Formats: sequence, C-alpha cells, structure tokens
Amino acid sequence: MANMKTFTINGTNLSFVDRGGGRPILFVHGFPLDHSMWNGQIERFSARYRVIAPDLRGFGQSGISEGVVEMAQFADDLAALLDFLEIDEPVALCGLSMGGYIAFQFWRRHVERLRGLILCDTRAAKDTPEAAANRLVVAEKVLREGSHIVAETMIPRLFSPVTLQNQPHLAEEIRQIIVHTDPRGIAAAALGMARRADFTAELSGINCPALLVVGQHDAITPVAEMQVMANAIPGAKFEIIPRAGHMAPLERPDAVSAAIADFLQRI
Ligand code: MLT
Repeated sequence: MANMKTFTINGTNLSFVDRGGGRPILFVHGFPLDHSMWNGQIERFSARYRVIAPDLRGFGQSGISEGVVEMAQFADDLAALLDFLEIDEPVALCGLSMGGYIAFQFWRRHVERLRGLILCDTRAAKDTPEAAANRLVVAEKVLREGSHIVAETMIPRLFSPVTLQNQPHLAEEIRQIIVHTDPRGIAAAALGMARRADFTAELSGINCPALLVVGQHDAITPVAEMQVMANAIPGAKFEIIPRAGHMAPLERPDAVSAAIADFLQRI
C-alpha cells in the first residue's frame, strides 16, 4: 500500500499507514505478515475513522531488532506511535493472532489509551511447552534456511479449505509477504511469542468493550477456544465468520468489517 509513513524509536524505523479522519482505530497484523493483511479494512474504515496500521518491528517496511522481541515491546511501540501522532484520545485496537497477543500486552501496559478491543483469531493462553520448543526450532531454521520455510508450513493452516479452493491468489499474496520478510524479524517475533505470558486469568478483568471474531474453520485458534475467551470477558460480543479460517479479515473482509463496524458504532 502506498503512502506509508515512518517514525524512529531508539534508532529503529517503524513504518505505518495513517489514513482517514475521525476516531482512531489501530489495526495490528499477525505473524509473519505486515499491515497489508488489513487492506480491506483500511480501505473501508478510513472513510469514517482515522485508521492506523503499522508494520510491526521486524516486518514489512519497518526496521529489524535482532534477538528476541517480546510482545510487550511491540505494545510499547504502538503506544510510541500514538505519541508520535499526538493521539491522546483512546483508540479501538484490532489485533489478529500475534496482534491479539500484543493487544493483551497493550491492555496491561496502556489501558488508559483503549476505547475498545477487537480480538481476531487469537488466544489468551501462552504456548504449551511443545509449542514453545517448536518456536525455537523454527527460529533457528528460518535464520539458517530462509523465510520460505515458514511460508511452506504456515500457509496450509492459515486459510479455510474454501478459501484455498476459491481464492488461491490470497495464499500467494501471503506467501509473497512471508518470503520477503527478513528471517531475523521472523525469528525474533517467534522467540518473543514463545516467552509470552498467559493472559487467561486476566480476561475477566477486561472492562472495556470487546469484540471477538474468529473464522469458522480457524485451524490455529479454533472457534471453541475463542468462545471460552468470549465467555470470560464481561459483555464481550462473539462473531463467527462462516467459511473463513485463521485469516478471516482477508478471506471474508466484508463479513469481518461488518462485525467491526457494528461494534465501533456501539462503543
Ligand atoms: C499469527 O497468525 O500471528 C500466528 O499464527 C500466531 C502464532 O503463531 O501463535
């Protein structure tokens, strides 16, 4: 997407889209992607809202931090971006998967800046020991062999079978994003996810409006798990997107955007 802007935080350049005007919404992408997974939502919501969609540290056009990037660091980067943009009013934060893990950290660290939380295809639980161990293997492998390794393993699990059949170009778009992502950015975020804290016990304390959205065929963060999360958050709204998988906002942009639009009108 054209018109990306950049700001610098402790020597690292971070790129973002800032479009439209009105109440701010922050769209936070999943792993190992960039802001463009939200293109459908950026287009739609910038007609009525101020849409901010960053490339997280290590992804898209943003600079890289080698080693480990914790979810808290990503959350603090978002707060720094809001400071840079001089946005003082609370924002709606919409995060997908890793973007949701970051949203939980944003809640912990910057709750006063939140108007509402939109959690797409994500989980509150931390990694199982097996999943965390696997992240270390993936991090080493991607640094050794390249980003295509992650594309090969993840893409079949990112989309619903219906999407892979009917919209194969989406899988190719995502593959292109992943193979053009620096392995150091992928490894650092994978190691950060492996270390993330469990947020499950804190769900009942979320006291801002929340919407949870999940693709019916999400193979990574399944409907049943998100239903339990939605039940735990007081007053949360829960929306299942038919025929979509983990990448619901990309697979069925209109359905996901309709759920988000309805939520935003009510908060
Ligand atoms: C994502 O979509 O951000 C990833 O699937 C998250 C994860 O690997 O846990």
